[in-house]
Amino acid sequence: MNCKITGKLLSPIHSFGKMPMANNFIENEKDFEKEYFFNLEFSFNEEISLFQINEYPDAKNFFNEKYPFFTGLSKYMVNHFEKYYNSLNKKNLFNKNSFVLEIGSNDGSFLKNFQKNNIKCLGVDPSKSASDKAKNVGLQIIDDFFNVQTAKKIFNKFGKVDLIVSANAICHIPDLNDLISAIDIVLSEKGSFVFEENYLLEMIKKTSFDQIYNEHIYIFSLIAIDKVFSLYGFKLYDCEPQSTHGGSMRYYICREGAQKVTNRLKIHMQIEIKNKLDKFETYVKFGNDCEILKSKIYKKLKKIKNDNKRIIGYGATAKSTTILNYCEIDNNIIDFIVDTTPEKHWKFSPGKHIQILPYEFFEKDYPEYAYLFAWNHKDEILIKEKKFTSNGGKFISHIDLK
Ligand code: TYD
Repeated sequence: MNCKITGKLLSPIHSFGKMPMANNFIENEKDFEKEYFFNLEFSFNEEISLFQINEYPDAKNFFNEKYPFFTGLSKYMVNHFEKYYNSLNKKNLFNKNSFVLEIGSNDGSFLKNFQKNNIKCLGVDPSKSASDKAKNVGLQIIDDFFNVQTAKKIFNKFGKVDLIVSANAICHIPDLNDLISAIDIVLSEKGSFVFEENYLLEMIKKTSFDQIYNEHIYIFSLIAIDKVFSLYGFKLYDCEPQSTHGGSMRYYICREGAQKVTNRLKIHMQIEIKNKLDKFETYVKFGNDCEILKSKIYKKLKKIKNDNKRIIGYGATAKSTTILNYCEIDNNIIDFIVDTTPEKHWKFSPGKHIQILPYEFFEKDYPEYAYLFAWNHKDEILIKEKKFTSNGGKFISHIDLK
């Protein structure tokens, strides 16, 4: 696999085996045979310190009218986006005359904050299922991928934008050359590009290998983002760790010289260097840690089943696709998965075909164990599920097994 930025040939470090597409919940049992699998493996480009998966299906196959992810279903995330808005406001990254663009606007949960405060804004998102929800609340959305072509259209219609924001979307874009060229077309001279993503250091520390799936082509670090954007005359000038999605990082980018580099960024860069995020050996060790954890997970679940206890899955997350398929967990171990997203109900999980049921099936007849696939929402879920835990029910996840 060639790195799209340096053209360098990257050899795989670790493989999770044949993997279906995460979020590709299957409606009909007769379609099991048609399921698409690819080889999920990761590599590390030492030149630009970039962690990436080697093979990924074309995004048109999943960011479409069937995409089942809606930010607005999580109160915690809705709250998070209000705080994200307030933080940008406090930093004066926009004002009442600004024009704001969001890359990957999903159901409009973030942009609604700008809309509410009468700030002109525009979203870009190829997932029609999500964009339709944003349009229904009066937001202006372009149903497309953000690339040079889309950026030219935006520039021709609206001119330059003062702020580009994004959350959990940039790591989905394979061609970072094209992404940065597109940003160059629409971003004003003094403007900022602010985005947040799953954070590599958190993934390495937790061995949360389930952050790796077809939609997450890259897992970024500050060192990588700094190197990549520097190639194009942009500069990473600040960062802010976030607790969302099991540990994320917010990145602040401007054109070279437009903003001063903060001390906070220098401190976090040093932490990454201390943790050897720029070294190949770190990722070889991570691969080994994944293998050890895989075996621990399987043994733990097998022991529960041998004791004749029931296990269900809690949250049909995209992440659960990597756990179930890599660790060989099927219907003999997990009875079903409950989820609050109506679009996922009665469908089957990718690869292992465990059925997704409405949340009520959990409350109706508590099992002894629930595998917390939505471990990134642990705080919110533990508060909600006191009845389950006080009745002796136990949540388990690989994060706690480490
Ligand atoms: P998400 O956090 O977006 O993870 P991923 O990106 O890996 O899909 O997904 C959380 C899933 O968990 C989503 O399908 C909704 C579900 N969920 C519940 O079923 N109950 C809950 O209380 C919460 C917070 C989420």
